Amino acid sequence: MSELRVKIGEIAKRRGFYWKSYEIYGGLGGFYDYGPLGSVLKDNIIQLWKEHFVLKDGLLLIDSPNIGPELMYKASGHAEKFTDYMVKCKKCGHAFRADELLKSCMENPEKLDEKGLWKAIKENNVRCPDCGGELGYPERFHLMFTTQVGLNKKAFLRPETAQGIFINFPILYRLNREKLPMGVAQIGKGFRNEISPRQGLLRLREFNMAEIEFFIDPQADFPLGEEENVILPLLTREGKELKIKAGEAVELGILSSPIAYFMARSLKFLRALGIDENKLRFRQHFKEELAHYSRDTWDCEVLLSQGWVEVIGIADRGDYDLKRHMHYSGRDLTALRRFKEPKRIKIKKLRAKMDVLGPLFKGEAKKIAEIIDNMDYREGDIEIELNGKRVKVPENAYEIVFEEESIGGERFIPHVIEPSFGIDRLIYAVLEHSYYERAERGYKVLKLKPRIAPIKAGVFPLMSKEPLAKVARNIVTLLRNRGVNCYYDDSGSIGRRYARADEIGVPFCITVDHTTLEDSTVTIRERDSMEQTRVKIEELGDKLINLIEGNLKFEEV
Ligand code: GLY
Repeated sequence: MSELRVKIGEIAKRRGFYWKSYEIYGGLGGFYDYGPLGSVLKDNIIQLWKEHFVLKDGLLLIDSPNIGPELMYKASGHAEKFTDYMVKCKKCGHAFRADELLKSCMENPEKLDEKGLWKAIKENNVRCPDCGGELGYPERFHLMFTTQVGLNKKAFLRPETAQGIFINFPILYRLNREKLPMGVAQIGKGFRNEISPRQGLLRLREFNMAEIEFFIDPQADFPLGEEENVILPLLTREGKELKIKAGEAVELGILSSPIAYFMARSLKFLRALGIDENKLRFRQHFKEELAHYSRDTWDCEVLLSQGWVEVIGIADRGDYDLKRHMHYSGRDLTALRRFKEPKRIKIKKLRAKMDVLGPLFKGEAKKIAEIIDNMDYREGDIEIELNGKRVKVPENAYEIVFEEESIGGERFIPHVIEPSFGIDRLIYAVLEHSYYERAERGYKVLKLKPRIAPIKAGVFPLMSKEPLAKVARNIVTLLRNRGVNCYYDDSGSIGRRYARADEIGVPFCITVDHTTLEDSTVTIRERDSMEQTRVKIEELGDKLINLIEGNLKFEEV
């Protein structure tokens, strides 16, 4: 394990960001608890995500259940296809993800199928990482957790929040006044029974995700707007690396407009989180690597101590999901494409022939003729329902005619572009990219952006004596009443208190000293520059809030 990963893990546990779950019972792989700081950091990241996407892109936010019926996951393809290749050690019985094992000895093992994986394991003499034993042939391992509803109804825990959006398409489309494009977001837990997860927050069996299903008409234009000039670092599946404006990538046919748009939006979001832009790229999936629902996927990867790690997947799911759910549910999940001008079209219709129907059906002939005249075009004998009976009408009892009709639009299955964010991975990436040590004394610092830092300010009396302590406590109350998450600390030297605050990413520290008693001012110290400035207590709340929101620079205080 890299030194940096160990350091982050150590701070995370000691200071209360996150730790392995169920430790008192020996632990359970792939499950982590967020502590007091981690829970707030997660909430702050989600809040920023909501502002950046749900608010600014005008998305509809929904919240659907974690447990879903088997039929839905048959329709989505997950029941059959949501698998990874696993290899088991013949000696100790431990299981591993085949492509993960091969990562250290070859490029792109995710491209390999079962035979390719086996060949690579043999050729590279890959052995069990735990006991050195011989590994068995790769087997498909299903990743969904099953459960049951009531006595015996088989169900699954959702592996993605996306399906809860697709199956609600007709309601959401109506709520959106039948307009496309329509973006729907969902934030919540996903569950995957990962094979042998050993990468901390980077591979969890129960994880937090934020997903957007963006429904579009594939024939409609998709303007990039101001995202056109955002420079995207791309790595194509052919291995070509380029830094290119979103608009140019679309013009050159490298990206579709909606994918380019969400890449640019995602890049801006990562920037706001404090991810290092020089350690970020969008990598196109190899054909062999694509999920069963995807026509094209670009992963946004960030460079961490363990290499490039996916934090966002942007997939073109085409009409795969809605089409499958239409088929399995029998419901209409289409949208209406309105024409600019109504179109006159010729359509084939059925016209009943009374001279044939009359002798055949006597008193019921008129009713049958009415039903046939209103039927969609078809051929051959027809079965219709009349007064609760099935009645067979021969094909010579009607004729085919052409009629002109004026139509305002046509129905079609929308396509879906899906940007999907792994919140836990983003949390870890933010921590790694924020971590540094001060040259002097090697103090650890997390340079978390003030917006997402779990605690915004520490308030310190220079000495733990009255009246300084009382003034400091009053400032904590004043700031908390303004919604600023802050704490009081009077233990140890001021230097130690600053160091404790820096280690958990507190961006501002406020010190109450003797001058405070004379002129009602306090010092604010900025974490990264370690600069200090004095402000009046009555202005402290406003200034601090403006600093946190990014409306004020520290130099301007
Ligand atoms: N919905 C995207 C994913 O499951 O990765």
